[in-house]
Amino acid sequence: MLKDILKEKDYLPILKMNDGSDVTRENWQERRAELIELLEKYSYGHTPKCPVKVSGEVTFTDANSYAGKVLNQKIDLTFETEHGKTTFPFEIFIPYKVKRPAAFLNLAFGRVPHRYIPVEEITDAGYALIVVDYRDMVNDKLRGDYSDGIAAHFGTTIDRGPEEWGKIGMWAYGASRILDYLIAERSEEINTERVAVVGHSRLGKTALWCAAQDERFAMSISNDSGYGGAASSKHGNGERVDDFIKCGSWDWYCENFKLFRAELEDEKPYDQSFLLALIAPRYLAIGSAKLDRGADPESEFLTTLHASPAWELLGEKGLITPDRMPTVGDHFMDGKVGYHYRDGRHFFSREDWNIYFKFLDEKFKD
Ligand code: GCU
Repeated sequence: MLKDILKEKDYLPILKMNDGSDVTRENWQERRAELIELLEKYSYGHTPKCPVKVSGEVTFTDANSYAGKVLNQKIDLTFETEHGKTTFPFEIFIPYKVKRPAAFLNLAFGRVPHRYIPVEEITDAGYALIVVDYRDMVNDKLRGDYSDGIAAHFGTTIDRGPEEWGKIGMWAYGASRILDYLIAERSEEINTERVAVVGHSRLGKTALWCAAQDERFAMSISNDSGYGGAASSKHGNGERVDDFIKCGSWDWYCENFKLFRAELEDEKPYDQSFLLALIAPRYLAIGSAKLDRGADPESEFLTTLHASPAWELLGEKGLITPDRMPTVGDHFMDGKVGYHYRDGRHFFSREDWNIYFKFLDEKFKD
């Protein structure tokens, strides 16, 4: 049944090179480069590749937070490139009860406390938590405000070239700089080989693009990410390029993103299954909510399923699912690709977090 649905959708092939030849384990890295190139060119824009130096300054420490169970620190992260220096803050929470815990790097809609961030549940579950308010990396004022943070650092302007990066790329870049710091300075306290980058909605899109490019992330978790995230950019039922243009969030993407509007939507030479496949053979968890129509939950599932053969090519189990569309309460997590479908609306709920804890418990249990 699922095979027929996928056939009907006629998604772009992942395991064919651009010249039509087969992708093999041996040339997977070349295919990766092609997939990244397409996504950079038409969706997120190019990420600067210049060398970068990172340092962190601890500005606040509470060694007794959350009933004395957790070390909490605020850190100012400075990164330096040929364009100069830029600083943004983030926060870490490390539970004492686990030695070198795996960690969630949460791209967040605000600082702690926040309704989407259950710090105590996360640390009680035995995971470290790193939280960055995305607007501390670059603002999200919409319609091309590149006046601060990472955008200003790299000199992005409203007159961007067609393939220059948008804000999703910048937030993803910032998350990679945090990982630079964690690896360099905090590897004794946190298991930096087991960092899951996690985000909800636009930040779920970002968590995917971040791990797609930066293979040091062991896992990516995208909650209700929708268009530009886990939902198909073609043949879908949710948002459209025109919606982003209308509300001004086109600046999350590159200028070329605007090329495929209205009847051209389905002509795109890329799709979100490319983004998901780039995370193979690492861990991936996708969460959808039934009433989140804008995010097109059915297409989030189908895109995940379509991307799954990339894991199999690399000798891993991808998404393991019964041969039917998901129903409320389903959570598939036997393979390296997890998927869950919950009731309710667009939200980063405790139910979602509990499923991600379970996924990490299973995958990182040794
Ligand atoms: C808007 C946007 C979505 C996005 C969401 C969010 O609704 O159009 O694509 O996922 O915001 O980030 O909250």
